[in-house]
Amino acid sequence: MIENPKKRAYTPQKPPSQLEKWQVDAGINEILLETTVNRLAADISASTKRPEISKPLKEKEVVSSNIGLLDNSINLVNKIINLDELRLAVSEYEGCSLKNTATNLVFSDGNENARVMLVGEAPGADEDRQGKPFVGVSGQLLDKMLSSIGLDRSSVYIANIIPWRPPGNRQPTPKEIDLCLPFIRRHIQLVNPLVLVLVGGTAAKSLLDKKEGIMRLRGRWFEYAADESDTIIPALPIFHPAFLLRSPVQKSNSWKDLIQIKRKLTELGIE
Ligand code: URA
Repeated sequence: MIENPKKRAYTPQKPPSQLEKWQVDAGINEILLETTVNRLAADISASTKRPEISKPLKEKEVVSSNIGLLDNSINLVNKIINLDELRLAVSEYEGCSLKNTATNLVFSDGNENARVMLVGEAPGADEDRQGKPFVGVSGQLLDKMLSSIGLDRSSVYIANIIPWRPPGNRQPTPKEIDLCLPFIRRHIQLVNPLVLVLVGGTAAKSLLDKKEGIMRLRGRWFEYAADESDTIIPALPIFHPAFLLRSPVQKSNSWKDLIQIKRKLTELGIE
C-alpha cells in the first residue's frame, strides 16, 4: 500500500492529568512556556523582605498585614513628580504579588494631557499580553461607548486600579486593591483631569471609598478629592463594559451615563 505522506498517524489524546485539571480550575487558560516557572518562589522571598513601618497609616483602614507594604507604597508615591517616574516606581514595586504572575505591567493608554480620565479595575488576558488597558473585547465596547460621545483614545487617558492581571481574571482582593491605591491616586493627581470616569464597581467603590455597589453608584456625580489641598474632580461611576456584554439590557442606562459625561464636558467648556 502507498502511504499518503500528508496523512499523519492518528495519536489518541491523553486524558488530562490531575495537575492539568487543577490548572484549568484555577483559571489557567493559556500556555505561555513549555516548562513551568515557580513564580511563587520569588513571591515568598519578596514577602519575607517586608519594608519597615516608618509612619502611622493615615489613608484609611486596611487589612492589618498590609500596613508595612502599604506604608511603603505611600512613601514611594509621595516623591514622584511625573508619569515616567510613576511608571518606573510601579514597575519596580515588589509589594503586590500579582506582579509575579503577570506577563506585563499595564500602566496606561491614551493622551496624558486629556481632560477626561477613565479608571478601570484590572487588566485581563489581552491587556496583560499587550501591556495596555482595555484592548480586549470589553475594551472594544468601551471604545464604541466613547466614540458615541465623540471621544477616543486621543482625547481620554485610561488606567486601572490594579496594573497587573489577577490570575484567571479573578477579582482583585481588598489587600491587592489597598496596596495599589496609592499609585492610582498619584496617577490621577499627575494627570489632573477635569472629569473622572470610574469604570465598574471596583474602581468606583475603592476610589470613592463607598460600600454601595455599582447599581447604586452609577449615573451619580461624586466629588473625588484628589489631594489634601481641596482639589476636587467630578467623578461619574459607570457600568463596566464586561458587565454590559453579559447584561446588554443595561446598555440603555449606560447611554444615559454617557450623555451625562457629554453634558459635563459641555458645561466645563470642553468639546
Ligand atoms: N477590564 C478592566 O477593568 N481593565 C482593563 O484594562 C481591561 C478589562
